[in-house]
Amino acid sequence: MIESDKIWIDGNLIDYAEAKVHVLTHGLHYGTGVFEGIRSYKTAEGITIFRLDDHIRRLFNSGKAYFMKFEYSFDELKKATVKVVRANRLDECYIRIIAFYGYGKLGVNPLPNKVSIAISAWKWTEHIKKEDMEQGIHIMVSSWEKVGIRSMPTHAKGVANYANSALARMEALKSGFDEAIMLNSNGFVVEASAENIFFVKGGILYTPPISTGALEGITRDTVIEIAKQHGINICYDNISRDELYYFDEIFLTGTASEIVPVGFIDHRVIGDGGIGPITREIQQHFENIVRGKNHEKRNWLTIIQ
Ligand SMILES: Cc1ncc(COP(=O)(O)O)c(C=O)c1O
Repeated sequence: MIESDKIWIDGNLIDYAEAKVHVLTHGLHYGTGVFEGIRSYKTAEGITIFRLDDHIRRLFNSGKAYFMKFEYSFDELKKATVKVVRANRLDECYIRIIAFYGYGKLGVNPLPNKVSIAISAWKWTEHIKKEDMEQGIHIMVSSWEKVGIRSMPTHAKGVANYANSALARMEALKSGFDEAIMLNSNGFVVEASAENIFFVKGGILYTPPISTGALEGITRDTVIEIAKQHGINICYDNISRDELYYFDEIFLTGTASEIVPVGFIDHRVIGDGGIGPITREIQQHFENIVRGKNHEKRNWLTIIQ
């Protein structure tokens, strides 16, 4: 992680090194926080933040599940996000907004504590190797079940949900894989530890419905819009573990990863093993959108410079 200069916390821009919380912060002990991961891109019109409104909307929805009262409005948080990117003189960056129950009363009930909001941004560095983008990554089906829709609010991008993701990711990495796929209690595919998942068979695009417990990913929605714009049929279907092995193409989607082809699942080759034609086409359309070259989707870009 590349250090930046300033972090916004509760209305103030402060020095990066000063952005600290008390060790008795509620969110630290009980996972009572919600967050967003957002990206900015260089376009012909300057630096833009991708789907900022949608990210902030999801942050408010996540907070609602946890009875969080934000002291800042939608527009104030939007402005603050832009301010952070500008203050750090960043172009391509990753932006992290976190809202969490703070310090005051430490017990399971977070409600007596103030909700703090912090916005950070740092220089973006690619984390997926070029060859993986061509050959596809290796993933495994995790032995950890995805946290269920009756256990946690899975529409919320809640900090606590990520303990489940972290267990799956660590298991995958320690087993020599790049990423983990998680199944729900019915045995259906939900998503990867930090990405949604898509499959292709016979030219049709498939993705698990949100009711499986998958996060309503903003990149997922972008891919669905791309499919609609370009006449690719999309089907929301429950997929069982072994069905995974028989798709022509599989790819993962997320703000950080964008569109990542999957080459192998549980050591079984997917399709021909490399990036497939539909995945490549969707990647290209996605790139056009985030770079401001798709005029119909220009309203997804917040121009900051
Ligand atoms: C569990 C999980 N699913 C899906 C996604 C993809 O969501 P988005 O495209 O909004 O980044 C993420 C991204 O952080 C995630 O953590």
